[in-house]
Amino acid sequence: MSAPADNGVGTGVQAPKRARIAERTLRTDRWWLQPLLTVLGLSAFIVYATVRSFVRTAYWVPDYHYLTPFYSPCLSTSCVEGSSHFGHWFGDLPGFIPLGFVVLPFLLGFRLTCYYYRKAYYRSVWFSPPACAVAEPHAKYTGETRLPLIIQNVHRYFFYVALIVSLINTYDAITAFHGKTGGFGFGLGNIVLLGNVVLLWAYTLSCHSCRHVTGGRLKHFSKHPVRYWIWTKVSKLNTRHMALAWTTLGTLVLTDFYVMLVASGAISDLRFVN
Ligand code: FES
Repeated sequence: MSAPADNGVGTGVQAPKRARIAERTLRTDRWWLQPLLTVLGLSAFIVYATVRSFVRTAYWVPDYHYLTPFYSPCLSTSCVEGSSHFGHWFGDLPGFIPLGFVVLPFLLGFRLTCYYYRKAYYRSVWFSPPACAVAEPHAKYTGETRLPLIIQNVHRYFFYVALIVSLINTYDAITAFHGKTGGFGFGLGNIVLLGNVVLLWAYTLSCHSCRHVTGGRLKHFSKHPVRYWIWTKVSKLNTRHMALAWTTLGTLVLTDFYVMLVASGAISDLRFVN
């Protein structure tokens, strides 16, 4: 190994007193595969969600009251009749504004600042670093200490909004137990909507901020048995946070896709009751 060159520039592998190695990595395995899959998965979701949020078609099934989560809550007079569960707060919206615009920025912010997604896109998009023992291309590392990445610290506030959004999605899922001729109804769409909501709650409650809210800043767990009990449950869920982050991306797409197929008449909802 060559002697460290203390030239006083850069951070990370460029830092003074780090060994100078010409190769970017000495790893011989397929270390690039995981970052590649991550960027493909995230890109696919972003493209799908963006297109669906703007098309303004097939997002509401009037017969069964199925509403896709990408358009919930629908608060403008541009929303099709029946889809505005919480009334019309706004008039008609121009086509370049998604109908679910009230919560979309918060949902995006919640995901973008999520601790797991940060790890994923820091590695796969910014190569900072792309993998263990693979040098990053950047000469300097400033972390989350200044703009724009210092914004990551507002994650806990996005978490609070995400709780409200989860409540709204829950209301939508309950409202969807609606029969074609009124009253109670139950179909495959209800299972899809309900499954999505349950997993969204699991993802939201497994958030690191939730863990801190429930059990953080306590000096003695023994004096706060209820918070300690909640914290242990949230902590268990937290160990599945990465899996839930990916699963909920999938269930969001699946739910929207199913509603789109039924709303557009491409398929009929499989009905068990009414
Ligand atoms: Fe992932 Fe909060 S850490 S949602």
